Amino acid sequence: MEIRVEQGDVTTISADAVVVNLFEGVTAPGGATGALDTAIAGAISRLISLGDLRGKGGELTSIYTDGKVVSPRAFVVGLGKNADFDYDSIRNLSANLVRSLRKPGIKTVATIAHGAGIGGLDPHLCARAIAEGAVMGSYRFTKFKGAEKKDDDETGIDTLIIVESDAGRLDALRAGAAEGAILGEATNLTRDLANTPANHLTPTMLANVAADVAKAGGLEFEVLEEADAERKGMGSFLSVTRGSIEPGKMIRMSYKAKPGEGYDLALVGKGITFDTGGISIKPAANMDAMKADMTGAASIIGAMKAIAALKPNVNVVGIAPLTENMPGGRATKPGDVVTAMNGKTIEVLNTDAEGRLVLADAVCWANELGAKRILDVATLTGAVTTALGDVCYGLMTNNDEFATAFEGAATTAGEKTWRLPMFKEYDELIKSDIADIKNIGTGNRGAGTIVGAKFIERFVADTPWIHLDIAGVDNMSSDKGWVSKGASGMSVRPMVHLALSLAD
Ligand code: BES
Ligand code: ZN
Ligand code: ZN
Repeated sequence: MEIRVEQGDVTTISADAVVVNLFEGVTAPGGATGALDTAIAGAISRLISLGDLRGKGGELTSIYTDGKVVSPRAFVVGLGKNADFDYDSIRNLSANLVRSLRKPGIKTVATIAHGAGIGGLDPHLCARAIAEGAVMGSYRFTKFKGAEKKDDDETGIDTLIIVESDAGRLDALRAGAAEGAILGEATNLTRDLANTPANHLTPTMLANVAADVAKAGGLEFEVLEEADAERKGMGSFLSVTRGSIEPGKMIRMSYKAKPGEGYDLALVGKGITFDTGGISIKPAANMDAMKADMTGAASIIGAMKAIAALKPNVNVVGIAPLTENMPGGRATKPGDVVTAMNGKTIEVLNTDAEGRLVLADAVCWANELGAKRILDVATLTGAVTTALGDVCYGLMTNNDEFATAFEGAATTAGEKTWRLPMFKEYDELIKSDIADIKNIGTGNRGAGTIVGAKFIERFVADTPWIHLDIAGVDNMSSDKGWVSKGASGMSVRPMVHLALSLAD
């Protein structure tokens, strides 16, 4: 989708549809909505007095303009109550709008900058939310629709024009729209990867995608093959790769705005391209969902793509351990003891708790590379869904200040996180009888999500660290605002905002 900002007004702009808005309770529309109302002989005011148009949030009213303005159709979107209106509302209404306008005759849509008028919000951020919403709301995964592809699969708008009469606002709107498109497209890349079946996205193929993203964005790229991982002592990562005939890869994508300086931030993502559970094999029902067990890695790749495009003055390294978790003949067996890169020994009591095993060596590598902060993101535990559902994702940390910075970044992106405690008492749960630690908690003592975090914490040393468990939000059952059905792409934009916030 092309998104551009044009100076002009909704009555004269050439488009298949123009979009204006109305706050709840407004009876005499002003601004662009008022100008359009006048041009179409009071049609909007009449709908308001009839009670058909009330400006409620989510309301979308179509009006045929009968040749009175250039565009044949106008839409009035309800903004809801002015007091409740914010950038999240804009992002969601923009997404809902592009979804509603998925009609064969609507290709070019011109909209006013919702929120920047009587909403009183910052034009830059309004345009960013509009662009993000439009790009993420128009997302569909149709790559594998072949002969039975429906006409509908091809339908969707291809040009969105933000129209603004005030010349003084154009630069801010343009900058915001460009940022929003970058953030939205990065999220859609992550969604595409997470939605792709495992036979079309092996560790090798995912590494190749990351290499392409790195090349296009001017990032440094490195792959540790299994032999390299062996030399580095990554026995924990290799304990998972050995069950599969597909070679595992540990990838690194580096963005360096300040050459010669260290990394301000490492983003580390779990990249299990399919999780069968290994020898501790999962039940058959819904096992297909485990093609998305590389969502953490996909989120890192999306975030690095956006960071490369936005060019903040900060150094960021993205790391992802990529492997299948399979029960092959050489697979790790429950009870095996392996040694991670930092020398810690791990008793693998359940091979289905593999995410923490691959992340252990990945965060060790981030530390070896000298990262000042580490954030890892993973579809780590089913338990996080029990705790938080699909409303927010779990955040665990060893550093309050760093966590607060991420929470701010998530809020900026319209995503919700919730902290789970990291009391030292939980460390008891991963004590092993025969090794330094074990990879699952003791008996029936619960706290599965925290146990996963406690395990990873042993490998981050003293580095400020955040662990995000996104297993509850990685996949959504229906479209809702900017969230599209299937892979949600959550965590991508917050990670980018976090990187931007660390820039000096
Ligand atoms: N990939 C799963 C976690 C998961 C479950 C993600 C459901 C998305 C949806 C992870 O590797 C796993 O199997 N975790 C186990 C850990 C347990 C063995 C300690 C779990 O959550 O059951
Ligand atoms: Zn697993
Ligand atoms: Zn897993």
